[in-house]
Amino acid sequence: MPLFVNDVEMSSESKDLFYEKHVEYIANHGNDQNDFEYCITEFLRMSGIYWGVTALDTMNQLSRLDKKSIVEFIKKCQCPTTGGISACEGHDPHILYSLSAVQILCIYDCINEIDCDALARYVTSLQQPDGSFFGDKWGEADTRFSFCAVAILTLINRMDAIKLPKAIDFVLSCCNADGGFGSKPFAESHAGLIYCCVGFFSITQQLHRLDCDKLSWWLCERQLPSGGLNGRPEKLPDVCYSWWVLASLNIMGRLHWISSEKLKSFILSCQDSETGGFSDRTGNLPDIFHTLFGLGALSLLGYPNLQKINPTFCMPQHVLDRLNVNGQIWCP
Ligand code: FPP
Ligand code: ZN
Repeated sequence: MPLFVNDVEMSSESKDLFYEKHVEYIANHGNDQNDFEYCITEFLRMSGIYWGVTALDTMNQLSRLDKKSIVEFIKKCQCPTTGGISACEGHDPHILYSLSAVQILCIYDCINEIDCDALARYVTSLQQPDGSFFGDKWGEADTRFSFCAVAILTLINRMDAIKLPKAIDFVLSCCNADGGFGSKPFAESHAGLIYCCVGFFSITQQLHRLDCDKLSWWLCERQLPSGGLNGRPEKLPDVCYSWWVLASLNIMGRLHWISSEKLKSFILSCQDSETGGFSDRTGNLPDIFHTLFGLGALSLLGYPNLQKINPTFCMPQHVLDRLNVNGQIWCP
């Protein structure tokens, strides 16, 4: 069977996972704090750490990072006034980085290192009268932030901090005629936002409110001849959509609606054989974001020697088992 990459036929067979190279790539990421890439990514540092911690734990190599300095960094990023957490010291708090911080602390089993009551109050303060959430005090509402809100509150066991029926109504109002979801009512369906909405319904145990067949059809049509998945019709394949699409299909019990073997080949073709790490597409430079989502998708596909990753929270399953937290998974 021919192999396609970026939808061009390739002659080679499916390659293997460069496990040790990826461990080195992630463990050394950010070691040189004068590095240009490190400096320009300050605005998303907290999420960068979450991507690295989760990817290393998925490869059973979490000990390669220094827990103490990571936890100290997170504590310094919690705003004493609002309770929200920022990407980096001195930046404004945001719900996205608050979730990344909570995910890291849960992986390290030390959530009480931050003030969880203050964080719950921050999430409460971001809910709008229509049930939606702002990302920060300046923000616009977006379904990504609805996901972040319920994920944070579940992980810190404070779901009573928001008006849940209203929150559910808002996300339902973002469903489009094609079965997909966008960032707000009537916004274009997008696989990243579908993950947020399906994840939201998984966390809130509301998957029965979805038309899973229709939505899964839209998702499985994202697979291209190369085996890779795109995020919207007419777009190129991208490794991170392997996660957004596959995790959504997994939550809805329809992972088998796409070709796993072809997707595995595409993801493996996006590894950098010299530096380690995964890029968005074959031949591009690797980054830590696509490295997590490449490994995460391989884990969902049952790739050997990777920890099982939870499709709803994008965290190692053993962490959620320890916390006794689980998103709903639909069994059709
Ligand atoms: C694509 O973004 C991805 C999304 C819109 C989903 C983002 C999801 C979250 C922020 C929730 C937290 C995530 C996890 C894993 C816990 P993009 O800007 O790359 O879109 P584009 O491909 O259209 O440019
Ligand atoms: Zn991407």
